[in-house]
Amino acid sequence: MQQRTLGTQGLAVSAVGYGSMGTAVGYGPTDDAESIAAIRHAHDLGVTLFDTAEMYGWGGGEKLLGRAVAPFREEVMIATKFGLTREFGTDSRPEHIRAVVEASLRNLDVDCVDVLYQHRVDPAVPIEDVVGTMAEFVEAGTVRYLGLSEAPPETIRKAHAVHPISVLQTEYSIFAPDAAPLFPLLEELGIGFVAYSPLARGFLTGTAKPAGEYGPADFRRRMPWWAADNFDANALLVAQFAAIADAKGVTLPQLALAWALAARDYVVPIPGSRNTDRVAANIAAADVALTPDELARVAAIAPDGGRGGRGTPSPWL
Ligand SMILES: NC(=O)c1ccc[n+]([C@@H]2O[C@H](COP(=O)([O-])OP(=O)(O)OC[C@H]3O[C@@H](n4cnc5c(N)ncnc54)[C@H](OP(=O)(O)O)[C@@H]3O)[C@@H](O)[C@H]2O)c1
Repeated sequence: MQQRTLGTQGLAVSAVGYGSMGTAVGYGPTDDAESIAAIRHAHDLGVTLFDTAEMYGWGGGEKLLGRAVAPFREEVMIATKFGLTREFGTDSRPEHIRAVVEASLRNLDVDCVDVLYQHRVDPAVPIEDVVGTMAEFVEAGTVRYLGLSEAPPETIRKAHAVHPISVLQTEYSIFAPDAAPLFPLLEELGIGFVAYSPLARGFLTGTAKPAGEYGPADFRRRMPWWAADNFDANALLVAQFAAIADAKGVTLPQLALAWALAARDYVVPIPGSRNTDRVAANIAAADVALTPDELARVAAIAPDGGRGGRGTPSPWL
């Protein structure tokens, strides 16, 4: 698979990565054996960036990913995140960061985390103190590259001044194009971009169901795209994207991933799937090049994304 460079510190990964959140939380019942098979299939097909977080099963997701990649750990980059609490708050106090990173190393059963992200900016802790603490791990050799997630421009600038930030991870998809205004800053500072939920949590796969049809713990029950007022309008948008995909001879998820890949050459989408066939189909998007005309047609259908918004504030807009 084609490689992409994230930042200027040497981090290079496959153009399409793998997001493992759904193996632990968010999208309904999981089967560990199927999830492990999906992760290993992604590696077989050339994926080298595997994404997890403390909060994906509070260690459970990290343990599963560590187990899955153990046979080829040296060939891949593992990214994890700290800084959310079980009450959906933030906690980036230095002592908390240290405890979480030590636990992540144990959960993943690795000597080194390749990319460490702050999951959400913590308004109670200066970003300089957060990045200073993250940098301790780089100096100790137990973390290789630093990242932020959902951070606004002023935070990115301050963080980068303390220690180089290699990558910003933020939601980015045809349904959630909010991050695009951040690209000039990333270019100025030489920071890469990982696009999370690039399939709009599955809405851009044509498989979305009304919110009430998902289980009680499924994130989609509470997401604005699925709200009763928005669902049908969003399904109509998706039908129009599907027509563009059909005309090109690709699938709807491949169109969605190719759209993200076309945004900049330092954008790496990390779709999540627990199914080997869907993993393979998603990875094939790395070979799909959308023409300027196709990109313009997509933009004309939903220039501001899906109706209802992504459900996460975008303070930079
Ligand atoms: N930094 C953050 O705050 C943050 C937030 C959210 C997510 N993330 C990261 O981003 C990754 C990806 O985002 P995501 O998992 O939220 O959403 P996503 O990749 O946009 O969509 C995942 C959903 O789409 C389904 N799917 C995937 N490929 C498909 C295909 N080809 N055909 C049909 N359905 C398909 C998956 O179901 P199956 O598994 O059943 O295929 C799952 O329900 C996460 O795993 C996580 O690593 C980060």
